[in-house]
Amino acid sequence: MSETSQVHPQYNYKVVQQFSVMAVIWGIVGMSIGVLIAAQLIWPELNFNTPWLTYSRLRPLHTNAVIFAFGGCALFATSYYVVQRTSHVKLFSDKLAAFTFWGWQAVIVAAIITLPLGLTSSKEYAELEWPIDILIALVWIAYLINFFGTIIVRKVSHIYVANWFYGAFIITVAVLHIGNSMVIPISMTKSYSIYAGSVDAMMQWWYGHNAVGFFLTAGFLGMMYYFIPKQAERPVYSYRLSVVHFWALISLYIWAGPHHLHYTALPDWVQSVGMVMSVVLFVPSWGGMINGIMTLSGAWHKLRSDPILRFLIVSLSFYGMSTFEGPMMAIKTVNALSHYTDWTIGHVHSGALGWVAMVSIGSLYHLIPILFGKARMYSNHLINVHFWLATIGVVLYIVAMWISGVMQGLMWRAVNSDGTLTYSFVESLEASYPFYFVRFIGGCFVVTGMLIMAYNCYRTIFGKEEHLQVESQPQPQAA
Ligand code: HEM
Ligand code: HEM
Repeated sequence: MSETSQVHPQYNYKVVQQFSVMAVIWGIVGMSIGVLIAAQLIWPELNFNTPWLTYSRLRPLHTNAVIFAFGGCALFATSYYVVQRTSHVKLFSDKLAAFTFWGWQAVIVAAIITLPLGLTSSKEYAELEWPIDILIALVWIAYLINFFGTIIVRKVSHIYVANWFYGAFIITVAVLHIGNSMVIPISMTKSYSIYAGSVDAMMQWWYGHNAVGFFLTAGFLGMMYYFIPKQAERPVYSYRLSVVHFWALISLYIWAGPHHLHYTALPDWVQSVGMVMSVVLFVPSWGGMINGIMTLSGAWHKLRSDPILRFLIVSLSFYGMSTFEGPMMAIKTVNALSHYTDWTIGHVHSGALGWVAMVSIGSLYHLIPILFGKARMYSNHLINVHFWLATIGVVLYIVAMWISGVMQGLMWRAVNSDGTLTYSFVESLEASYPFYFVRFIGGCFVVTGMLIMAYNCYRTIFGKEEHLQVESQPQPQAA
């Protein structure tokens, strides 16, 4: 890696290379664990009677690995790249950059060790225990200083809109993480939240929902605003819309958390505020999606020959789908049906796999050849194969979960004329098995695509230039 880090002496590409490669590796690890837990839901004996292989311990490992290891590395890589290119200046501090890389990998390794051991704070997406939380906070503050330091020393007066989204993501995640991780430690491996009862629940879902809004959305919108125009070789459709999109999104998301706590001990009016804010959130979400898709105006034909662009644009369709579905699910009467069912799981993966993973994959395919001084990826054909495996895999996954989720909701609420339940819980579980199998197959498609990506990246990084296949993949010049 050291030799290729000389590719661009003006910028720090080394840290971008490191995070990009790790994003691919953690993507494979996290999604493979997803396939394993999907299989365990059909064949529970796959836990081999081993405590650390049980579903309850591997599920949080899956969510942490895909969100924070895969998604996190993709966000670090692209934000460090974009902020340098659009500010026309090297990263503020190479030392801080190296600290964020090694610190973040240490957090991931700590998660891989502690979660299977059953060490957890039991707060979803914030399961890691307090010593790891402190390391996360330190890495994040270093990231914040480095990102904004680079903005401050920039050589152009303008701050490109992608940096606004990355900046909001970095600041908000710092506030969320520190706010929700306030605990009283009783040993090195156990702590209790300083919040109690419904206040604790509200803090948790203020964190949880904004982890979705800022970690899984705002940062990836930063990616969209840089890599779609680059790959399409077109300016952003409407810069004005992107600014409206930014302010509307960040001012609305923060209020929507209570939709995770409908029909709970949370005061009714708080639930209603969460519901209304979620419904309104549809507007900026779709504004952003339309802005991204319309960037292709006059260049639609490129979708025929450029699978990287296809990844990016299809990711936006999934973003549109999940941000239409989310506001609907936030309506209390709809949530009464969807909550606790696989419908939520379908929604999660249309956002997480369809949007987050596909926009990251597209951006990484754009980035990796540039970072390692190659003209293009080793094989455009393999990117295309990956695109179809990913798309079919995601569709199988989410359609299966939608059907299974609505079916479960309807079965649980069905009552006989004498008021007794029509179906037992086990009957609804039995009816779900075929859909679990379809989800498992979908997951296998997605992981196969990721393995192909790893091979393609390996050949790109280590291959000799002349071995590259001559294909018609458009390669825009970097900024
Ligand atoms: C091969 C791809 C994947 C497979 C097979 C897979 C499978 C699964 C399974 C089986 C569950 C547990 C569902 C349940 O408890 O009923 C789950 C949960 C989850 N997965 Fe994935 N997953 C994949 C990719 C991803 C990716 C890329 C992300 C995020 C970027 C993600 C984020 C999540 C989240 C947030 C949950 C928790 C959902 C909730 O609690 O409502 N997954 N996944
Ligand atoms: C306008 C945008 C969105 C709104 C209003 C929204 C709304 C919702 C609602 C109402 C739920 C179900 C809560 C429950 O019944 O427990 C939910 C769950 C979830 N959503 Fe969204 N959603 C949006 C976009 C997204 C996107 C883009 C992603 C992923 C990238 C995402 C990830 C999740 C996750 C991970 C959960 C499961 C949380 C859990 O229970 O563990 N959402 N969302």
